[in-house]
Amino acid sequence: MKVLNTLEDWLSARDQLRGTLGFVPTMGALHPGHLSLVRRAMVENDRVAVSIFVNPTQFGPGEDFKRYPRPLQADLHQLAVRAPADVVFVPRVEDIYPPGFASRVRVEGMGDVLEGASRPGHFEGVATVVARLFTLVRPDRAYFGQKDGQQVAVIRRMAADLFPQVEIVTCPTLREKDGLAMSSRNQYLKPDELHAAPVLFRALELARTAFASGQREAQVLRQRMQHVVEAEPLARLDYVSVADPDTLAELDVVEGRAMASLAVRLGTTRLIDNILLED
Ligand code: PAJ
Repeated sequence: MKVLNTLEDWLSARDQLRGTLGFVPTMGALHPGHLSLVRRAMVENDRVAVSIFVNPTQFGPGEDFKRYPRPLQADLHQLAVRAPADVVFVPRVEDIYPPGFASRVRVEGMGDVLEGASRPGHFEGVATVVARLFTLVRPDRAYFGQKDGQQVAVIRRMAADLFPQVEIVTCPTLREKDGLAMSSRNQYLKPDELHAAPVLFRALELARTAFASGQREAQVLRQRMQHVVEAEPLARLDYVSVADPDTLAELDVVEGRAMASLAVRLGTTRLIDNILLED
């Protein structure tokens, strides 16, 4: 497993890779969810590249950019032992955003709802860094987790518009035994908050059960989820949504597929989760 720390080294390593290339962009603090993406990429491609880059442009002013965990040595060890990619790109900020870098990628209409409503500019940061990484990495396939459902929708739209040669592969959300979606941010939770955190999954499961028994009124599904969260004293609901998974438009009636999603605050930590509802 080769680790490349500068753009120059990366570009010459890239030129030596033959065959199809699968790419897994990450911000590090790797957990089994990330590793599942890398393993899937290993199955489907001749070579696999992982990037580890905590992208400053997707964090808002009051967000956790500075305190975001950066256990680089542990990440490289985990990759080497549990999901050995061929190449790991760990760029410096100036490799991704060289002096004078002034371009931004905005996916109209999808970046300012749901997560974007409380995190202005977040998806512009995500789309910009992923576009820059796609340009530098030149993957055939790129792997994203359903855990970040809106991110998947934004990236799919962006890739269809700007990188039609890159196939976007969405991978299922890996969860703890109690249903809590694995996330680098779970380590911020205090013990009582960690205990309360599966409330997101319980709410989604209730929506799934209602959907399975024929409920198609989106507002009823939203209310069911809301009641579950409101019954948990430590949780404060940010939003619940039942939306079209591709356009993110809120639905009245679920006809085809829908993404049920929610964001919840536990203390100072904000958690998100979602599931797809389909027949
Ligand atoms: P990060 O949060 O590190 O996540 C990297 C990838 O792992 C994303 O595609 C995310 O959806 C996926 N992932 C996270 N938790 C998961 C879980 N429990 N199960 C399955 N997949 C999971 O998402 C980002 O980084 C950044 O926004 C990035 C795309 C790298 C751009 O900076």
